[in-house]
Amino acid sequence: MSDPLRIGIAGLGTVGAGVIRILQQHADLIAQRAGRRIDVVAVSARSKGKDRGVDLSAYDWVEAAPDLALRDDLDVVVELIGGEDGDAKALLEAALGKGIAAVSANKALLAHHGCALAAKAEQAGVPLMYEAAVAGGIPIIKSLREGFAANDIKAVYGILNGTCNYILTTMRETGRSFADVLKEAQDMGYAEADPTFDVEGIDTAHKLCLLSALAFGVKPDFEKLATCGISTITATDISNAQELGYRIKLLGISKILDGKIIQMVEPCLVPEHSTMGAVEDAFNAVFVEGDFVDTGLAVGRGAGAGPTASAVVADLIDIARGHTGVPVFGVPVDSLADAQWGDPGDMVSRFYMSMIVKDEPGVLAEISAIMRDHDISMEAVQQKARDPQNPVPIVIISHEARQAAIAAAIESVAALDSCVEKPVLMRIESF
Ligand code: HSE
Repeated sequence: MSDPLRIGIAGLGTVGAGVIRILQQHADLIAQRAGRRIDVVAVSARSKGKDRGVDLSAYDWVEAAPDLALRDDLDVVVELIGGEDGDAKALLEAALGKGIAAVSANKALLAHHGCALAAKAEQAGVPLMYEAAVAGGIPIIKSLREGFAANDIKAVYGILNGTCNYILTTMRETGRSFADVLKEAQDMGYAEADPTFDVEGIDTAHKLCLLSALAFGVKPDFEKLATCGISTITATDISNAQELGYRIKLLGISKILDGKIIQMVEPCLVPEHSTMGAVEDAFNAVFVEGDFVDTGLAVGRGAGAGPTASAVVADLIDIARGHTGVPVFGVPVDSLADAQWGDPGDMVSRFYMSMIVKDEPGVLAEISAIMRDHDISMEAVQQKARDPQNPVPIVIISHEARQAAIAAAIESVAALDSCVEKPVLMRIESF
């Protein structure tokens, strides 16, 4: 058997402790598969004394994570600190600069600085692996870089945040509040350190940036991504969707439209009996459309210690095997293009709209006139109560319309005296 692969791990939170657990529990199995052992040599985290449920006594303790890169006894650093800057970035820059291979689960860092880091890795001739950064246990990075490499990719989309999917599923099944279910998702180790990143769609956007880069050979460009999360979705929207035969899912969508890439992150209605509608709990699903392969789908747990750590260890096994020659984003950094981004306003779909309005004669006529003036045809309109003393909910389903037209129409509805709350607008996607 060859010499062991010597690794240093920075960050011993949910995922870091999960990586140590797998490496300890499956040491022999991994050695057999990789052809050599993977030995943890040093670790670094904020608090040395904390009980993480794993035995760290055999490893050197390094106080400052970036100092791992100063050591001469490491083949790989594993960055599980998180955050788009700070120690995570310093460690990866130092390690790659010195020619040490790197594994990271840090989608925020890669979405913002992926190109520069990939250039450093390429220059040094070492791998920068990040399977755990997108969709936890689903090997979607490897699939896009290798398995789908023969195809011109037309679209990549799906459910990319386990926390949001868990919240939406549990709210629908139990009627419990958003805040209550979010707390549970945090306790289960699904959510980011700052759960705003999950519920406001930022985590999905980070992941989608990386998928777009891999699918379309463009530089990751987080700034160009329009993002909307799930924090304003109410139990009423969830039950309205259910009554209509839909489920609400936070989707990341990246597709080619008229030669440009349209990227968006937003909650959408999907048919409850569709494949996407059936992906529940903390599961993720990623669809890939290629010209020869047609549509491929991968489903699996997208969050939590086990799935995410499993992806980190898979990267380590690839490095141990010497399977390291694949460019970070599927093509050499010099070949990554500046993307031509399209306008999500050009996307045509059916839409769900809900609004709270005064229950008076003429209100529906006003709303209909606004829809007509924006060239929007309505498939269904439902007033969901009758109460002349109090505002009532109205739900509208449109026929196919341009997003920009619907957005303008909803703004006009919001400005009506009869409309008492900001209306809700969601795309209906039929995958
Ligand atoms: N917080 C992420 C999620 C898990 O809920 O999907 C790690 O990417």
